[in-house]
Amino acid sequence: MFVELLVLLLTVAVVWDYLVGRKHSKYFDKAGIKGPFRWPVVGNAPMMLKETPKTVFDLQWRLIQTHGKNIRFQILQDRGLMTADPKMIEAIMSSQQTIQKNNLYGLLVNWLGDGLLLSKGKKWFRRRKIITPAFHFKILEQFVEVFDQQSAIMVKNLYDRADGKTVINMFPVACLCALDIIAETAMGVKVNAQLQPNFPYVQSVTTASAMLAERFTNPAQRLDVFMRLFFSSAFAELNANIKTMQDFTNGVISERRDLLQKSMADGTYEASNAASQDDVGQKRRMALLDVLLQSTVDGAPLSNEDIREEVDTFMFEGHDTTTSSIAFTCYLLARHPEVQARVFQEVRDVLGDDKNAPVNTQQLGELKYLECVIKESLRLFPSVPIIGRHIVEDTVLDGKLIPGNTDVMILIYHAQRDPDHFPEPHKFVPERFSSERKGEINSFSYTPFSAGPRNCIGQKFAMLEMKSTISKMVRHFELLPQGEDVQLVLNIILRSTTGINVGIKPRVY
Ligand code: HEM
Repeated sequence: MFVELLVLLLTVAVVWDYLVGRKHSKYFDKAGIKGPFRWPVVGNAPMMLKETPKTVFDLQWRLIQTHGKNIRFQILQDRGLMTADPKMIEAIMSSQQTIQKNNLYGLLVNWLGDGLLLSKGKKWFRRRKIITPAFHFKILEQFVEVFDQQSAIMVKNLYDRADGKTVINMFPVACLCALDIIAETAMGVKVNAQLQPNFPYVQSVTTASAMLAERFTNPAQRLDVFMRLFFSSAFAELNANIKTMQDFTNGVISERRDLLQKSMADGTYEASNAASQDDVGQKRRMALLDVLLQSTVDGAPLSNEDIREEVDTFMFEGHDTTTSSIAFTCYLLARHPEVQARVFQEVRDVLGDDKNAPVNTQQLGELKYLECVIKESLRLFPSVPIIGRHIVEDTVLDGKLIPGNTDVMILIYHAQRDPDHFPEPHKFVPERFSSERKGEINSFSYTPFSAGPRNCIGQKFAMLEMKSTISKMVRHFELLPQGEDVQLVLNIILRSTTGINVGIKPRVY
């Protein structure tokens, strides 16, 4: 009786799976999109059981070799498409119809709420319009001083280990610097992460980021209900850290709103520079949140909670991403002395021989070769190696009808190492991005900041920050190829399980 019941249940499940998946199969077959063998009901889930965040890039590479640059997949009842095809990437990134994120991003919702990264539809559109002016060149220009000051602290802290032999993992070093930078520019407060890494807010950002990365990679931790049942203390710790961060952000927002209202009441308010002077009469820099405090939607100001979501989104998006890129660029420079020598020469030519002289926006703009180096580093080691979308309705993309309710994974990492678009794809060649070779790179085979309406709003900010920190490193130190090579792992952003190692020696000039 039991066996008969089991057979009946299995038959019902298989038939149900067939009926539910029929449309996807029909559309994908018609579009010529193939994929690995799918089991009834569970799809490709069994194949994924033996994979880890370390093997996922190899797996995707094998799938591309076998099935082409567009691959269909199914994990339980989530049906989807992976793509490393620039034409398909262009169609997805350029369309307003395909800007919704997929379910996996939901893991971030407790921290980031409905901020720019996660929001959808009209809400996203309105927010994007309001937030865009916060990244205007005039505002970014003021931040260059912060980038410079915090990079100076970073190098000062490194001198202790600058014996040419000690192995330095650049990830945690760059991370604290990036945290100081984003806290001061987004919220207008110094959290002194580099000087006091134990400050509760700093600890909470680093702990929560690591715990969320773990949830992304560990399927058993995906659902809140499983977290509550099987990982209750980790879940409580994560939520406590999120609360610490949100309380901190809320406190800063209330303080800055009071300041703004006070300056409006006493007549000292200037529309473009709400917080122009602080208590000791020093010119105060406008933070990203000041722009949001002055913004209105249909005549009404944004609430503290609206602003909190956006500021927390900047904190999340704006520190690990730049950290990863700064660390990988230092790693590549250490292992390519000829490239490093050229960067050093350029840095000396543009910034002069006083290592401690502050830099300005114009000088950073003149570091053209360094920019090629950073771009090439982001090609080989994109901080965000995969992005996800959810296609809600049937949509034609690159001439292929893709069914609604499809998850999409854009394989940025693989698209950027595609030999059809990048000769010697695994080689570090910054000259690929030189102005003489402009136009050689297909824009949608290289998308470290995504592209189209949902691209990275912070990319100019990030480029200035990276140029500032990396040029500071090269001005002070010769970077040496010490320590183990990187072992890439996908952990929300691109990391390395062996560290992102260099050695450093002070430069004498
Ligand atoms: C090397 C540094 C960075 C890289 C490689 C990077 C990359 C990206 C990518 C690929 C996306 C699209 C994500 C998706 O579609 O799911 C994105 C979105 C975003 N980034 Fe960045 N990012 C960097 C730095 C920053 C910084 C410094 C900030 C803020 C100060 C920032 C703020 C954002 C925001 C708010 C979004 C969401 C935009 C939207 O959906 O409208 N990013 N970033």
